[in-house]
Amino acid sequence: MAALTVNGKSHNFEGDANMPLLWFLRDELRMTGTKFGCGMALCGACTVHLDGAAVRSCSVPMSAALGHQVTTIEGLDAKGQHPLQVAWREAGVPQCGYCQGGQIMQAAALLKDKKNPSDAEIDAAMSGNICRCGTYTRIKAAIKQAAGTQA
Ligand code: FES
Ligand code: FES
Repeated sequence: MAALTVNGKSHNFEGDANMPLLWFLRDELRMTGTKFGCGMALCGACTVHLDGAAVRSCSVPMSAALGHQVTTIEGLDAKGQHPLQVAWREAGVPQCGYCQGGQIMQAAALLKDKKNPSDAEIDAAMSGNICRCGTYTRIKAAIKQAAGTQA
């Protein structure tokens, strides 16, 4: 039987290996913080970490996730106190909120690789995460704030 680890917990999987990881997270594990937007790797609403790298879970088949470590927005920090989550709250980033889990997971992967990213590096890393409410200015400010406060 194949298994994957989600937020530190192992889960067995026996279904269709072509099923998107996003379906498993939302429909089987009931972790609904990861959103379905486009289903085509074009919007970033479904962003999670696969072995620490940001991926679009709508377009990652279970076959690529089995045997690996997945982190969702629910598992980014046990108490919701990741520096990005703190900065997000302080800056009042979200509007409707739909894209925001994906935005934070994308930003978290960036800050893991680059402790103090430049404006251009933030723009490049975040350009694939769409916000229909246009919260981009606040997202960028919050990333900069988090970069300044993280250890
Ligand atoms: S739902 Fe996956 S990128 Fe849009
Ligand atoms: S806050 Fe509404 S889509 Fe981004």
